[in-house]
Amino acid sequence: MDPKRSEAERGELYAGFRTAYKSFATEAIHVGQEPEQWKSMAVVPPISLSTTFKQYGPGNHAGFEYSRSGNPTRNCLEKAVAALDGAKYSLALASGLAATVTITHMLKAGDGIVCMNDVYGGTNRYFQRIAREFGLEVSLADCTQLEHLKAALKPNTKLVWLETPTNPMMKVVDIKACSDFIHAHNKDIVVVVDNTFMSAYFQRPLALGADICMYSATKYMNGHSDVVMGLVSVNREDLYERLKFLQNALGGVPSPFDCFLCNRGLKTLHLRMERHFKNAMAVAKFLEADPRVERVLFPGLTSHPQHDVMKRQCTGCPGMITFYIKGKLEHASTFLSNLKMFAIAESLGGYESLAEHPAIMTHASVPENERSVLGISDTLIRLSVGLEDEADIIEDLEQALAAAHPKEK
Ligand SMILES: Cc1ncc(COP(=O)(O)O)c(C=O)c1O
Repeated sequence: MDPKRSEAERGELYAGFRTAYKSFATEAIHVGQEPEQWKSMAVVPPISLSTTFKQYGPGNHAGFEYSRSGNPTRNCLEKAVAALDGAKYSLALASGLAATVTITHMLKAGDGIVCMNDVYGGTNRYFQRIAREFGLEVSLADCTQLEHLKAALKPNTKLVWLETPTNPMMKVVDIKACSDFIHAHNKDIVVVVDNTFMSAYFQRPLALGADICMYSATKYMNGHSDVVMGLVSVNREDLYERLKFLQNALGGVPSPFDCFLCNRGLKTLHLRMERHFKNAMAVAKFLEADPRVERVLFPGLTSHPQHDVMKRQCTGCPGMITFYIKGKLEHASTFLSNLKMFAIAESLGGYESLAEHPAIMTHASVPENERSVLGISDTLIRLSVGLEDEADIIEDLEQALAAAHPKEK
């Protein structure tokens, strides 16, 4: 299909965004899935449960020895993910945090990490409460401002951890500007981007200069809220060799069944993300126009401070919206407790709509003083807008807002 025509068909929602990656859907469906790799010629990759593989003679095997070091179902998934990230290599880990831990194990005591100050609470907890105990020096910086990033870089800095948009404040970091700046400062510093919120369909960090793209595949990449998994993609041979070694040596690998499910989830990633974007834009506009809402943080809105960066580096926006409800904690609680279709739950990126209270739920592990600096207040609510019908999603939000603010409107 003519890519220009396909852009026009996607309509106004995508105006000004980067154009979609060529052949994304075809690659999601076919790369790594070749039936010829199986004796049975299975079109859908089998779930290969065997933990061990017969060798023709000692050390002479068909590519697999032991399932932690390599597994045929995991292989299919890793090849598909690499293609979707525009990467040479990808590795699957047991969870997003297992991916974070595996990447961090490339460092040694005394090395420094600079981490974006607004990241997933578990990433913050791991760096501050565990990595530090092992002798790594961790500093936080607001990487939306290059001067803050510059001030945080030290001679021992080996890793810079970015997340964009950030969780839950939806700040957008300019990946290219940060990567160029960091590599000009010291080309050996490894720039990692947590791409969980965007998925491979809406953002390709490696093409923007990052060295490692990682995911909690538990979210959009699998997309069905039934797998906990992490993914890591790289182009650099040296990083791949090291991470592949660590995947096996640390052992945080996913099960073949989970690899099968995530590989299946990827087949509809493009369709799901487009619907997430459409629904989320409708919700963001509805909330922004509502007098019971203080402020909406959604990078697809022109009111978002880094809307231009978002358009420059992304091909669309996911279903994540954060907003401040007017009032106090009781208004946020009443709103959340009255939702009927949205489930109050942690996590995000599945087909179903979810809502949560970051200060009490996902970000409770972030120290209170850091939360207040970031703006994670009692009235902040995070939505993961799902794939349901737009009118039903908005109706649910409307009636919950009415419950929280019965006198208004
Ligand atoms: C942005 C982000 N990164 C990493 C993680 C950790 O991933 P997992 O829960 O798969 O370990 C999460 C989990 O919520 C997340 O939202």
